Formats: sequence, structure tokens, C-alpha cells
Amino acid sequence: MSDRQIRIAPSILTADFGRLAEQVRAAEAAGVDLMHLDVMDGHFVPPLSFGTEVMAAVKAATSLPVEMHLMVERPEEHFDGFAELGAGTQIFHFEAARDLDRCRDLISQLRALGCAPAVAISPETPVSAIVELLPEIEQVTVMTIRPGWGGQSLKEELLEKVTAIRQAADALGRPDFVIEVDGGVKSHNIGQCVVAGADVLVAGSAVFNEQQAPSEAVAEMRAAIEARSA
Ligand code: DX5
Ligand code: ZN
Repeated sequence: MSDRQIRIAPSILTADFGRLAEQVRAAEAAGVDLMHLDVMDGHFVPPLSFGTEVMAAVKAATSLPVEMHLMVERPEEHFDGFAELGAGTQIFHFEAARDLDRCRDLISQLRALGCAPAVAISPETPVSAIVELLPEIEQVTVMTIRPGWGGQSLKEELLEKVTAIRQAADALGRPDFVIEVDGGVKSHNIGQCVVAGADVLVAGSAVFNEQQAPSEAVAEMRAAIEARSA
């Protein structure tokens, strides 16, 4: 098994927004690695989520890196605001960009802002659609659910895409290439995601729910990663 650092990135989508700062601090204390913020515009996906105000509240509550997952039709309209607030990585959707030329425009805009460019692919998009972009980006986010809602079940068959991207990145001599799995990650499947080749695991409802404290949830996921990749 490779010695890649495996990171856990909680999504605040299912957090209690009435005590958001407290929830973010609890996740940080539980030992997560970065925060994953899901921005939804009501067009690219039906729900609306939040924008810069909530991001600023999260940044104020934690010193962890923050990445932005833009489930929006026009990601370029939001890049500046999130970059100004210190976003490390900004992830736009291939399905919003629609073609490789437009992806390349978005990638150069993000580079100019000092953000790491990342591309997300929804379940219906094959790896072949974005494989050409790998030399130009830092990360691919593989959606293992239909984007738009937390709390869905991970579609295991989509993990094949993670393996295909990892092989393509290795072939390019990029062992540091980041592959993120987003959607339905829980302690019972996180090991499988890592074995498939993922190194960042987004976990929303696994970390923020009413049954279990973030500390316990994160410890369970770490143990499952260890057990799987030992
Ligand atoms: C959904 C978001 C995910 C989501 C993950 O479209 O991109 O980040 O919040 O939540 P869970 O882990 O509950 O699937
Ligand atoms: Zn997400």
C-alpha cells in the first residue's frame, strides 16, 4: 500500500448551522485535515446552500485549510470572493464548464488567483472526459452520489473511476496528484475508497449527525483506514 497521506475533509452541509463555529471546532479537535464547503446555486443543482458569509464564518472558526466545491453553473463568478477569503483549492464541475476549452479558462483563472485548480465529475461523466486535463490541475473530485444533497449512499461502482484516475496520474509521474471521493463516505466504505486510490475523503453526514460526536466518527474512520491499508 502506498504511503500517501490520507486526509479527511468534513462537509458542513449536514452541520447544525445554528452552532456552526462550535461544530467546525469539534471537527478540528477530532483531527480532520481540511474543511470542504459545498456551494450550490439552485441551478446546477436544485438546492441553494451558502456563499462567502458562511465561508468567512468557517475560516474564523478554524485554521485548517478550506476547499470550495462549487456546484454552480457559473463558477467564475465566485472564484474571486472565495480566493480573497483564503480558499486553498476551488473545485468546479466539468458538467458546468461543459468542454475542455472552458475548463482551461477556469483553470487559468484559479491559478492567477493563487488557488489550486480542481475538477469534479458527477456520476454520469466518464474519466475519459477529463483525463486530458490531469497535467493542468491538482485534484479531481469523484462524486459518488448525485450532487446536491448530503446523506445519500455511496455508489461503489463509481470507485472504478478513482482507480482509473490514479493510474493515469501515476503514468504522468504525479504521485502527489490529489483524488477526492465525495458522497456517502462512512467508516464501512472509507477503506475501500482508499484502496481504490483516493487520498481525500469528504465526509458530511458521517461527521455531522445527531447520533455520534465528530470525535468518535473521525476515530472510527481513521481506524477503518488503518485496518484496510495496513
Ligand atoms: C453533496 C456534497 C457532498 C455532501 C457529502 O453534493 O458535494 O460534499 O455534503 O455529504 P455526505 O457525506 O453525507 O454524502
Ligand atoms: Zn462536496
